[in-house]
Amino acid sequence: MSTRIGILTGGGDCPGLNGVIRAVTLHARQTYGWEVVGIRNGFEGLYEEEYTDLTSREVQYLLSRGGTMLGSSNRANPFAYPVKLPDGRVEIHDVSTRCMENLARLDLHGLIVVGGDGTMSFAHKFVERGATRIVGVPKTIDNDLEATDYTVGFQTAVQVVVDAIDRLHTTAESHERIMIVEVMGRYAGWIALTAGLAGGAHVVLIPEIDYDPARVIEAFHRRHGRGVSYSIVVVAEGAKPKGGGLSVVTAGDVTKQEKLGGAATHLARVIEQATEYEVRSTVLGHIQRGGAPCAFDRELATRFGVRAVELIAEGKFGHVAAVENGHLVARPMDKAVKKLKLVDPAGELVRTAKGVGIELGG
Ligand code: F6P
Repeated sequence: MSTRIGILTGGGDCPGLNGVIRAVTLHARQTYGWEVVGIRNGFEGLYEEEYTDLTSREVQYLLSRGGTMLGSSNRANPFAYPVKLPDGRVEIHDVSTRCMENLARLDLHGLIVVGGDGTMSFAHKFVERGATRIVGVPKTIDNDLEATDYTVGFQTAVQVVVDAIDRLHTTAESHERIMIVEVMGRYAGWIALTAGLAGGAHVVLIPEIDYDPARVIEAFHRRHGRGVSYSIVVVAEGAKPKGGGLSVVTAGDVTKQEKLGGAATHLARVIEQATEYEVRSTVLGHIQRGGAPCAFDRELATRFGVRAVELIAEGKFGHVAAVENGHLVARPMDKAVKKLKLVDPAGELVRTAKGVGIELGG
């Protein structure tokens, strides 16, 4: 039987996943003559045994397409999996043993797991349990994986937010309004701060710095005092006021993470109650995860995909492809899952924001 490798994409989708699938398939087939099996919907497909053969022909148009042709699921936790019983009830089961058996049956030379912190921590658990032939590719618009400077999807999300901020500038100015834009990123402020810098926002609120509403309002007063009667505020979904909590839409449980949302609405209410300013808020939501990947993410996806195949060829299992100071490197998988990479409140990015007068609220 010929050598074959597998690939799955898990967790929330993002632009660039298809680029990874394409690069893996092309490099594995053309350079090594390996077959490539796509596992559908993340670890769900491993449990349900939903596979598809990936050929060079099938992946030829994928580079510029957003989403993932393999599908993804952010409820596919094999260690706490919602199993539908014959009577329609759903019970949470640990299905990891069955996944390990299916993996053994697939008899893969290596499995490439493309994921964020959740998916990568499942992969790491499988490695610890003896499914050692796994390597990882980091993806998430949140850019919060400690192992790498950049994850696939982040730069596209930032570009989407910058485009939105550019549009909000003109309407905010015309109507002399405070425009708040809520962006994703979960507990990390990378999207908010990077896009805030690139879009020329006046206030940026990130999860790593609890904000004082009085300071934010003072920033608007200062701008008005200088004759500038509009402001752009970027608020990360995970930002919270000093002494206050996160804005949560749905609580998490063993099968899923909590769903954040409402930070912009909360802030708008606080500003309106304390001032005469007119405030509007925009929640960009999943627009940040959809559509075509930007050039950076296409390139990164291709480099990561090729490197992941090479990690298998070199027998460097239990590692993820990563970017460090502009170079592609292999980092141990546990480095990708131990803790989230957060914005350093005393770091260069924050200092730069302060340097150009952006109010960070704390
Ligand atoms: O982790 C990626 C991400 O887009 C977060 O920024 C966001 O909080 C979350 O996923 C949204 O998840 P869902 O697609 O389940 O609404």
